[in-house]
Amino acid sequence: MNKFKVLLVGSLVAIGAMALLAGNITEKEKQRVELAKAPSEAGIAGKEKNEEWAKYYPRQYDSWKKTKESDAIVDMLDKKPYLAIAWAGYSFAKDYNAPRGHYYALQDNINSLRTGSPTDAKTGPMPTACWTCKSPDVPRLIEEDGELEFFTGKWAKYGSQIVNPIGCANCHDDKTAQLQVRVPHLDRALKSAGLKTFEESTHQEKRSLVCAQCHVEYYFKKTDWKDAKGEAKTAMVVTLPWANGLTVEGMEKYYDDNNFSDWTHSISKTPMLKAQHPGFEFFKTGIHGQKGVSCADCHMPYTQEGSVKYSDHQVQSPLKTMDKSCMNCHRESEQKLKDIIHQKMVRKDFLMDIAFDNIAKAHIETGRAMEAGASDDELKEIRTFIRHAQWRGDMAIASHGNFFHAPEETLRVLASANEQAQQARLKLVSVLAKHGVMDYMAPDFSDKVKAQGIAKVNLKAEIDAKLKFKETLEKEWKKEAAAKGRLAPNSVALDPAVDTKSSYFDKTKK
Ligand code: HEC
Ligand code: HEC
Ligand code: HEC
Ligand code: HEC
Repeated sequence: MNKFKVLLVGSLVAIGAMALLAGNITEKEKQRVELAKAPSEAGIAGKEKNEEWAKYYPRQYDSWKKTKESDAIVDMLDKKPYLAIAWAGYSFAKDYNAPRGHYYALQDNINSLRTGSPTDAKTGPMPTACWTCKSPDVPRLIEEDGELEFFTGKWAKYGSQIVNPIGCANCHDDKTAQLQVRVPHLDRALKSAGLKTFEESTHQEKRSLVCAQCHVEYYFKKTDWKDAKGEAKTAMVVTLPWANGLTVEGMEKYYDDNNFSDWTHSISKTPMLKAQHPGFEFFKTGIHGQKGVSCADCHMPYTQEGSVKYSDHQVQSPLKTMDKSCMNCHRESEQKLKDIIHQKMVRKDFLMDIAFDNIAKAHIETGRAMEAGASDDELKEIRTFIRHAQWRGDMAIASHGNFFHAPEETLRVLASANEQAQQARLKLVSVLAKHGVMDYMAPDFSDKVKAQGIAKVNLKAEIDAKLKFKETLEKEWKKEAAAKGRLAPNSVALDPAVDTKSSYFDKTKK
């Protein structure tokens, strides 16, 4: 009897506990399924509006929104004035800032002096391609208008259409929330390099490939085509030069073989290349890339919130999240790792300053040789050295994380850049001497004002035109976008904080 009672009570207690536990488990499982669930079979209407995703994925949305916190403008021409000489005759000599949060990507593109001051949909200077890495409205337009139509025409053509900053629909399928690549150029480039396409890649690889939609080297490939009405058009199609591999030398050969140049240098008349931001390519050569770590591992670390685990969508410097980004794999103290990283930055700056000083002087000395009467024939080999020197140097530094992602490759390529620039300068000594110029010293370009002066940038005119554009055409774009319902009422694009900083606002406001 007693035995029976004990057993009964014991069983009841056990059953009760199990029921509680099971309830708890099903509750958690329900929550997990709920969290990862497709929002609907039909997908998310207006998926380029980030706000539309918020109701399904509040944690990802809220953390994505925090990319707003990375709001500092770092004027690179102020920091490294020789860059204005290196880019003389090209828009980068006007305005060039270090990257900041994805939240600002679209407005920074609009505010940059590089995109100029169009007065209507047809005025330049830039092609539509300049929007490519700024917004989920881009894949929408590529799908609606066709890729070639999208890449035809001037930047201002889409001013009222491209209104939401980099967001969910750039990286995710709206039906399944799975990772997705939504621009055709990446798969095309992977195939041209003999690599797996996005779909063929592993899940871990996809966690980097979504970033490689934008953080890569590219150029605008001139492509003639005919529209449905048979009208002849020319598109400038974003193309990654990977057919000879993802190395600096492979891409250099690709451009040389295609006789491609981004612009002709205004001082040295060299046909130049502008490196964009080869973050992915360099990363692949570094230790983390080679060991299979992904961009998301450091820049979007898993975060625990109660019982829920999700990816932190506040893409930023991982030095702000080291406990989540680094400490799963490393046992050194955070401070020790920070010191190591700082050391890598100092080493990169050391060689960068030497290489670009030589590159800038090579441009100026070539200009001087031309004044003294040197012919294009005499300068041919020198210009090839300059082209290669600057291409390599720019590739090493244009992506601001290279110094950490791939320190050896960054220093190797900078050393090669410096060597090419010195070859040019050695040859220049004799060309200058032949034309009677001895002991020539390039003028001082040690601050931004001096350097832009030598590069003949009329900064005031550029700023005045831009401010006028902001008062006129840009205002019309925003009005039209709102009227046509292209922005959610609570869109971050309407946050006044998006548009308070640039390299020049502070100086223009007295
Ligand atoms: C649709 C294009 C696009 C995609 C996709 C993209 N980025 Fe970016 N990223 C940009 C642009 C453009 C900027 C510069 C924004 C600015 O300065 O206004 C930027 C800036 C950054 C920054 C600087 C942020 C800061 O706080 O300084 C980091 C880090 C970064 N991206 C990492 C990543 C990672 C990691 C991925 C993939 C998970 C990724 N990006 C995917 C375009 C993109
Ligand atoms: C630059 C690319 C990028 C953008 C922009 C982006 N995500 Fe993600 N997202 C990722 C990556 C990478 C992961 C990790 C996926 C994995 O490992 O399965 C992820 C994971 C997720 C997941 C799966 C659960 C988790 O947290 O790991 C959801 C849901 C999600 N994102 C929603 C969103 C929403 C909503 C937005 C817009 C507010 C957004 N994402 C913007 C790249 C992006
Ligand atoms: C092992 C961790 C790690 C991985 C993996 C990683 N990064 Fe980084 N990344 C960093 C660190 C650390 C920095 C330097 C941050 C600093 O200086 O504050 C950085 C810097 C950057 C920057 C420059 C940010 C700025 O504002 O200057 C960008 C952009 C970037 N990474 C993108 C990427 C992309 C794209 C990938 C994948 C192809 C990637 N990162 C992979 C750790 C990582
Ligand atoms: C997924 C694991 C993983 C993560 C996350 C990770 N690392 Fe590493 N890290 C490695 C591995 C593996 C190596 C190679 C050394 C080894 O095998 O012992 C390495 C090497 C390094 C090195 C030495 C190599 C060099 O380039 O000098 C530094 C410094 C470093 N990591 C810093 C960081 C920082 C900072 C972060 C966070 C932003 C980070 N790592 C995140 C796995 C990781």
